Amino acid sequence: MIWNPAKAEIIKDDLNQQFQKQFTGVADLFIQAPGRINLIGEHTDYSQGYVLPAAIDLGIRVALRPRHDSLVVVYSADFRQTAELDIQNLDRGKAGWERYLQGVAWALGQEKYPIRGWEGVLMGDIPVGAGLSSSAALVVAFARAFSLASDLKLTPVETALIGQKAENDWVGVNVGIMDQLISAVGKQGQAVKIDCRSLEYTYIPVPEQISIMVLDTGTRRELSHSAYNTRRNECERASHLLGVPALRDAASHLLEDHSGQLDPVLRKRARHVISENERVHALGKALRAGQMQVAGELINQSHTSLRDDFEVSSPELNTIVEIAQEHSACWGARMAGAGFGGCALALIDPARIQDFSQEVHQRYRIKAGIQPAIYEVKTAAGAAEF
Ligand code: GLA
Repeated sequence: MIWNPAKAEIIKDDLNQQFQKQFTGVADLFIQAPGRINLIGEHTDYSQGYVLPAAIDLGIRVALRPRHDSLVVVYSADFRQTAELDIQNLDRGKAGWERYLQGVAWALGQEKYPIRGWEGVLMGDIPVGAGLSSSAALVVAFARAFSLASDLKLTPVETALIGQKAENDWVGVNVGIMDQLISAVGKQGQAVKIDCRSLEYTYIPVPEQISIMVLDTGTRRELSHSAYNTRRNECERASHLLGVPALRDAASHLLEDHSGQLDPVLRKRARHVISENERVHALGKALRAGQMQVAGELINQSHTSLRDDFEVSSPELNTIVEIAQEHSACWGARMAGAGFGGCALALIDPARIQDFSQEVHQRYRIKAGIQPAIYEVKTAAGAAEF
């Protein structure tokens, strides 16, 4: 993990070597921003609801040195590409990771932060499009890089909001605030319950009886795929018809009272968000009380709701989740992140990681005909210098 001093030194050495190859001299500053796994509270953030994610030990790392002009030059060691931009003349025509860099510079400009140029090297180990928030880690790392290079002292919440603005208004994906905020405020050993309206958050220790397993189906989704934005619009329409500012404000009985006003699809979408918000509170309590069976049952219910009411799962996600749920070491499993492909998660007994991984791997490979990746992730600290 990154906060293991030995590993941090190795990462620094790698970054510095790359930095020296691209630029003369050495980097001054090192930043890391983690990806995340969301324990529960899926597709609730943009309805101003509750989420319960944890930052994980996979992340984006940047080594950088401030410049005295308005140029930003970044080399991605993973893509072996260099991006160059002029803060005073941004370009909407860029693709891939470069678009996120432009977007963060733009968002900071929109919020009137006085930014300066920098040069740096970028490396990461979050699988892209898997549902572990590689894009949020990227924008948070860039926001921190600009903040440090320009001496802005952005708070974690401000950092997250800049990242979200870049993704919403520059990249064009209407994501909520969960991913950027958890990347900014995560803590080792803790999940974070976030109120996505007030942006207040509380830490909830992850009990020792839990290992968090990522179940990567080997399928990928494209988040800017219109389905995500469609779900968001459906939630907005449902809240409008229910007469509440956001679905966060609707309770189950309100949905029952007004069920005639909503078509069956909107009714299902609303039912997912309302019940999922309740599950976030319930899981928080179960984790604090160390009630693993209750916690697992809530995770399983979340999957059913995402599959049947919100309709964002996929055949491969359903297969891997069912296989995981059937394993005796598993407390609970569900699809994770935006859905439509990518990863699921399982909470399991730490003593049985090997047995669980082998069996789920084998059964999924036979049933789906795809090679999955099954691995444990550890909770980790949020974005910081190292
Ligand atoms: C993506 C978005 C988040 C959230 C999840 C679904 O990860 O970035 O804001 O909406 O999907 O819970």
